[in-house]
Amino acid sequence: MERFSILVGDLICSDAEAIVNAANPTLLGGGGVDGAIHRAAGPALLAECRGLGGCETGRAKLTQGYNLRARYVIHTPGPIWQGGNMGEPALLASCYRSSLQLAADHGIRTVDFPSISTGIYGYPLAQAATVALKAIMEFLQTHPLPQRVRMVCHSEAAAAVYRQTWNLWYAEDHDSRV
Ligand code: APR
Repeated sequence: MERFSILVGDLICSDAEAIVNAANPTLLGGGGVDGAIHRAAGPALLAECRGLGGCETGRAKLTQGYNLRARYVIHTPGPIWQGGNMGEPALLASCYRSSLQLAADHGIRTVDFPSISTGIYGYPLAQAATVALKAIMEFLQTHPLPQRVRMVCHSEAAAAVYRQTWNLWYAEDHDSRV
């Protein structure tokens, strides 16, 4: 699918209209990509987040991007990995669906994701990739917006897992392999 792609990069440098933040339910910042986004966006982002009253795991909330290149930040708290039998897959899928729905509702055309929950929250990468790609592909097959969605992996190793998962499940033929 040409509307979706996988790349290695730094989400902070993204030129997408919206970047997705792997947040926590307080929305008050943290480490990982959350910390990087807040550092790059500046203090005005935290000020706006303070007024949002937090966000449930699996849901998403929109803010401005402030000093980021991206115009918007979509904040979504992923599930903490607890072995896989505590509803983690459904909550992770909900992070991607909620973020995409929020983007579509605001007419946002390009969205870049990090690999939600696969850092501090400990979600195994291959399992997270399967959930993420399924949720993204199902959404794009039934919605005209966003026009472009990318998974921005922070390492070549992570991108390789996403590409392998993509090729296993979604590459209809050899030409569409990534
Ligand atoms: N660009 C792209 N991806 C990044 C970047 C970056 N600048 N920094 C980290 N990542 C990747 C990590 O390698 C990982 O694959 O983002 C993915 C998510 O990792 P985390 O940021 O640790 O997020 P998560 O696992 O969802 O844990 C969320 O961490 O930062 C805190 O406040 C946050 O409590 C929340 C928890």
